[in-house]
Amino acid sequence: MTDKLIIFDTTLRDGEQSPGASMTKDEKLRIARLLERLKVDVIEAGFPASSNGDFEAVRLVANAIKDSTVCGLSRANDRDISRAAEALKGAASSRIHTFIATSPLHMEKKLRMSPDEVFEQAKLAVRFARNLVGDVEFSPEDGYRSDMDFLCRVIEAVIAEGATTINVPDTVGYAIPELYGTFIKTLRERVPNSDKAIWSVHCHNDLGMAVANSLAGVKIGGARQVECTINGLGERAGNCSLEEIVMAVKTRRDYFGLDMGIDAQHLLAASRMVSQTTGFVVQPNKAVVGANAFAHASGIHQDGVLKARDTYEIMRAEDVGWSHNKIVLGKLSGRNAFKQRLVELGVTMESEADINTAFARFKELADRKSEIFDEDILALVSDEEGSN
Ligand code: KIV
Ligand code: ZN
Repeated sequence: MTDKLIIFDTTLRDGEQSPGASMTKDEKLRIARLLERLKVDVIEAGFPASSNGDFEAVRLVANAIKDSTVCGLSRANDRDISRAAEALKGAASSRIHTFIATSPLHMEKKLRMSPDEVFEQAKLAVRFARNLVGDVEFSPEDGYRSDMDFLCRVIEAVIAEGATTINVPDTVGYAIPELYGTFIKTLRERVPNSDKAIWSVHCHNDLGMAVANSLAGVKIGGARQVECTINGLGERAGNCSLEEIVMAVKTRRDYFGLDMGIDAQHLLAASRMVSQTTGFVVQPNKAVVGANAFAHASGIHQDGVLKARDTYEIMRAEDVGWSHNKIVLGKLSGRNAFKQRLVELGVTMESEADINTAFARFKELADRKSEIFDEDILALVSDEEGSN
């Protein structure tokens, strides 16, 4: 087992499945270039058989990207797989990701296939893909709601056919962290030759636990690839958020003990680009990349951060692409933060008594106005000077 955690970004594929998030091929290329700078290991660029436009987008990305593996999704049939292989032909490093549903519900109601038919199709698909590329990922769709014995049988067979990555999706975001982690662990223990493949987690966010479930899949289950998207973009409530999983593993390296190749300095830029491209606004309190992620409004917190940033910051804003953290002045702010802002604005006051007077006026204004901007302070201080 490696100590490296592989980051597989699927913003351009599963992220695009979010209603209203469709992207042109040039938009996909721009995002792919930024993902390459972010040093993600694998970029899932699209689903080539789904449309000519997506085929072209995957081809464009495959031809342009040199430092990340480019992946194309395909259902478990020869036509889809051939289309993916064709789109990926120009890639420096390519992967075919083939999937078929394995849960009783999906097999019976959606595929209308028997478990034996699904088993055969999974095997044949991986065999066919392995004849075209050396790097093949297999996903049992709705894997988490599948029967354990059947899933073990399918996974054993596809590993024997040469699947290099086994991805276990929680397609509908039904998992609970501890249960999902144990599910992956049990699979790895029960499937013969499980160490011949890298195990991967792919969690949806329907119950708001995609990141927590993915982390459990890594820590408890021993998965070494996480599938995720920028801003957690994806079907319904989205996928596991890339910026959150990356910063969790980095910030708590003491617990996870894993390395990643990611250059986190580009996280904010990637978040902004995906948000602007799709029109999906990032909520202010979103971890890592939200406008308030490194903002402090309460006087006690502001005082602490001004004395030592670690008091209320577990990671540095600058490490994920922000120019600095933020002290937001308002009615909860304390004298220390106010005084510090005066210094930053180049305002010098004769005495502590003058600062006290200005601070009292600031507090009075802050009770009427929710956020105080630098212009407000400058106006307040110049009034002060005028009245002296
Ligand atoms: O959620 C899912 O099951 C998927 C598969 C296609 C991997 O996105
Ligand atoms: Zn998915």
